[in-house]
Amino acid sequence: MTGGGDDTAAGTPVERAKAALAALGADGDAPSRRSRSTTAPTVAVAPGRVNLVGGHTDYNDGLCLPMAVDRHVAVAARPRSDDLLRVRAADFDETAELAPEDDPDGWAAYVAAVARVLREDDPISGADLAIASDVPTGAGLSSSAALELAVGRALLAVSGRDLPAADLALACWRAEREGVGVECGILDQFSAALCEADSALSLDCRSRETEPVPLGDCVGVLVIDTGVSHELTESGYNDRVRECAAALDTLREDADRDLDSLRDVDRDLLDAHADALDPVHFRRVRHVVTENERVRRARDALAAGDLDRVGDAMLAAHDSLRDDYEVSCPELDAAVELAAETPGVYGARMTGGGFGGSAVALVDDDALDRAERAIRDAAPERVGPDADVFACRPSAGVRLVGEE
Ligand code: GLA
Repeated sequence: MTGGGDDTAAGTPVERAKAALAALGADGDAPSRRSRSTTAPTVAVAPGRVNLVGGHTDYNDGLCLPMAVDRHVAVAARPRSDDLLRVRAADFDETAELAPEDDPDGWAAYVAAVARVLREDDPISGADLAIASDVPTGAGLSSSAALELAVGRALLAVSGRDLPAADLALACWRAEREGVGVECGILDQFSAALCEADSALSLDCRSRETEPVPLGDCVGVLVIDTGVSHELTESGYNDRVRECAAALDTLREDADRDLDSLRDVDRDLLDAHADALDPVHFRRVRHVVTENERVRRARDALAAGDLDRVGDAMLAAHDSLRDDYEVSCPELDAAVELAAETPGVYGARMTGGGFGGSAVALVDDDALDRAERAIRDAAPERVGPDADVFACRPSAGVRLVGEE
């Protein structure tokens, strides 16, 4: 990968991605291909997400209630006549050249992995790509799924191909698991693909059915980024996946039942076989079982406009993630505590994989500005020196710019 260039300047991700692509064309194309850089590029955008309730349920075939945020990864693209992907990451001031067989590290791994999975069905054109983003990385807002979905949508478009959003999400999910090595569930990719504007998304990770749940005008959402960066591949994430699998094996054997996943376990079954599980595994399963119940409760409460109940489910979800699932950290606990005591806040919880990253708070829209200011003022001392607070709106999933 190489550095150089001045395409990291201000502007929206779409503007910066377009500028970076134009700059890439000027110094990289063979003269005969320069005309291409003057035609309008294809641009895809995909959002980051917060998850209101339903933490660590997705890889257990469970339920989630995410919402895409109005922060995006933008990918500007134009086809090439060879099979190379020449990729400019404007935010990192780096360019990578990827042949189909290449297996790079870092951000380029996501691009290569998506292209590899998409190539399995039909050819993908070589392409020049430029990426720019305002989704913070390592903040638990799923910047990697946003990158995958935007790259995937852009590559399909320059190749004259299309896929339904759910199929593209599954392709990107496979890319993350097989190419990057995170044993994640489908939450992030389905959120970046299928969320709708002004709504949360009720997601059943077993049936893969989705349904928008309108948030209504009187709800605001705050993200409190602790500034403690998490890195899923190096965190305990894959440990939790393995603990759930081991607990499921134990329950299957002790109950002598055909259990496909922890989705098939309810409180009665768990209590009846509690003695067979070691205490840590018992708590992991208790989190998953109660979290699925909380998603159902929060989804119904949101649909009924009962925001206090949604907030209660979020606070209970955080306690469970902290105590039973043990994926929180002191900064996330402090962020949730600070939000919960702020007037106008219905509830808050950590969002994403945990071990750092962000908390999400559901706030009365009339109190949003005041709550944001109060949390921002207190965050450096209460949460950490690098904490950041911002409001976000529920946004739509991946799309081509101009086709919204
Ligand atoms: C990460 C993973 C998701 C999901 C969440 C926790 O974001 O990528 O698949 O497991 O953590 O809910």
